[in-house]
Amino acid sequence: MEVIIKQTYEEMSRAAAHDVARLLNTKPNAVLGMATGSTPLGMYQELVRMHREEGLDFSQVTTFNLDEYVSLPVSHPQSYHYFMQENFFKHVNVPKQNTYIPSGTTSNYQAFCAWFERRIEECGGIDLQILGIGSDGHVAFNEPGSSLSSRTRLKTLAKQTIEDNARFFERREDVPIYAITMGVGTILEARRLLLVANGKNKAWACAAAIEGPITGMVTASALQMHARAKVFLDDAAASELKMREYYDWIEERRPGAPQV
Ligand code: GLP
Repeated sequence: MEVIIKQTYEEMSRAAAHDVARLLNTKPNAVLGMATGSTPLGMYQELVRMHREEGLDFSQVTTFNLDEYVSLPVSHPQSYHYFMQENFFKHVNVPKQNTYIPSGTTSNYQAFCAWFERRIEECGGIDLQILGIGSDGHVAFNEPGSSLSSRTRLKTLAKQTIEDNARFFERREDVPIYAITMGVGTILEARRLLLVANGKNKAWACAAAIEGPITGMVTASALQMHARAKVFLDDAAASELKMREYYDWIEERRPGAPQV
């Protein structure tokens, strides 16, 4: 796993965005896996800036989002459909018909999940999956105890996730209890993974995911099994890493390192 630590959230977001842009410049019809949450916002803003000012082109891109709350209509300001529209899609030129987000309002979840998985395959698989991390170490909505081979499915949210996400809702009771989420197995099939995390409240989760044992109790630790996973952290999120000095040393040496 490549661990890249930047001093600030802004620097971390820019570095992650540049990684995504590099992929689009070499593969304009890339399939991107998208994440929601407050963490990737800075990265999306930088991608939007690159689209406006530098002509970064999304016209051939296809996107698949990780997850969605069950029961929220797409027009609900806290739905991930709404988030993607407001924070990214409406500012760039991804064709609407190329954007896939799990449905939180389907009448048949099982059939929808199977279709979603099939669609990813039919589109050639995900080239780069963007990820955030929950404070309990989850990726997407793969809560502690999830199978590391899990596929897209309905999931009951953990109490901690409901608490963490309550800040976005008027009342705690308004936070949905269920979500539809790509599985850990689905995520691991992406050709590359890119996780972003910032802030002290993610320090434990980042240390557990990057340096702890691989366990279904911290589903982000499954990234250790992926051959091409990159993690972008700010200083605070990196504060509990034991190998911090080594990651910084690698970054310092990178300009002179042999090209791979
Ligand atoms: C939710 C999402 C995750 C996200 C996490 C952290 O649980 N399903 O995909 O990574 O929140 O969100 P934030 O970036 O707002 O801390």
